Amino acid sequence: MSTFSLESWLPMQQRRVEALLASRLEAIARRSPAKLAEAMRYSLLDGGKRLRPVLCLAFADATARASNGGGEPANDAACAVECIHTYSLVHDDLPAMDDDELRRGRPTNHKVYGEAMAILAGDALLTDALALLATGPSAEQAVRGRLVSELALAAGAGGMVGGQVLDIAEDRPAQLDYLVRLHRMKTGALIKAACRMGAIAGRGDEAAVNAAELYGDAIGLAFQIADDLLDVTASAEVMGKPTGADAAAGRHTFPAVVGLEASKKMAQDHVARAVDAVKLLEPEPGPLAALARYSIERSN
Ligand code: IPE
Ligand code: IPE
Ligand code: MG
Ligand code: MG
Ligand code: MG
Repeated sequence: MSTFSLESWLPMQQRRVEALLASRLEAIARRSPAKLAEAMRYSLLDGGKRLRPVLCLAFADATARASNGGGEPANDAACAVECIHTYSLVHDDLPAMDDDELRRGRPTNHKVYGEAMAILAGDALLTDALALLATGPSAEQAVRGRLVSELALAAGAGGMVGGQVLDIAEDRPAQLDYLVRLHRMKTGALIKAACRMGAIAGRGDEAAVNAAELYGDAIGLAFQIADDLLDVTASAEVMGKPTGADAAAGRHTFPAVVGLEASKKMAQDHVARAVDAVKLLEPEPGPLAALARYSIERSN
């Protein structure tokens, strides 16, 4: 029997990510105006769950034959994904978008630095994420090129940004197929990219990248269904962001469209699909299966 425990493993991985992010941000700060670096740091180093970078590193570790996981390309991939995620949150909270005042238990970026600086801090996190990923020794250029392409496609018009547009569309229908497409793009695309990028950085073979694809697609959907559910069932204190906001804004969420119980069941089915997809990569109980369950069992 394996004794893998997510409870002890996850905080260790989160600390690993914190250290990587801090070192990358320090390098960016040296070349940028102090106020901009401060606004970027405020949102990047403020203790999110780090699910996406942890997934990226977990796939790199699971696929890599070398003992150092996916090496620096994997570390940069993990950080780049979290930079993009953070930029998306900073912009998502802006008055023109969700108009939220609380994020990760603190005032949102624009409440502290003003709207213009929040927009620019988001812009810089996005752009420097791609620079970070693209830059490295010439021997790494082929894999870095693939990683940049994965991340840019997932974050752009056909992925996260497109999903945000579907979320705010005035004529959005309250239909399940629209919602699934929206969740896949808004949240799923970046989570899936984090998994695929880990497998690519770990030099996994085609089967490993395909497993990451199936797993990432399933937990990406499950994760945003859980976000919708938590908005209904959890408190703002635990979440560190306003709750009940989706219903107040008339958003089309899973619980609003199919109900609480059906939403929970769908999230569980997606998690089962994810666990199944990584059976070959992870024959014994390990981080990938545990992270899949965590994506919906989390409390915030
Ligand atoms: C929140 O993402 C936004 C969504 C895409 C649902 P997370 O729940 O991963 O936020 P942090 O990074 O842990 O704060
Ligand atoms: C945010 O979705 C998704 C992205 C930022 C891409 P939400 O608007 O549901 O996220 P929260 O609930 O504010 O964290
Ligand atoms: Mg939103
Ligand atoms: Mg929001
Ligand atoms: Mg939400």
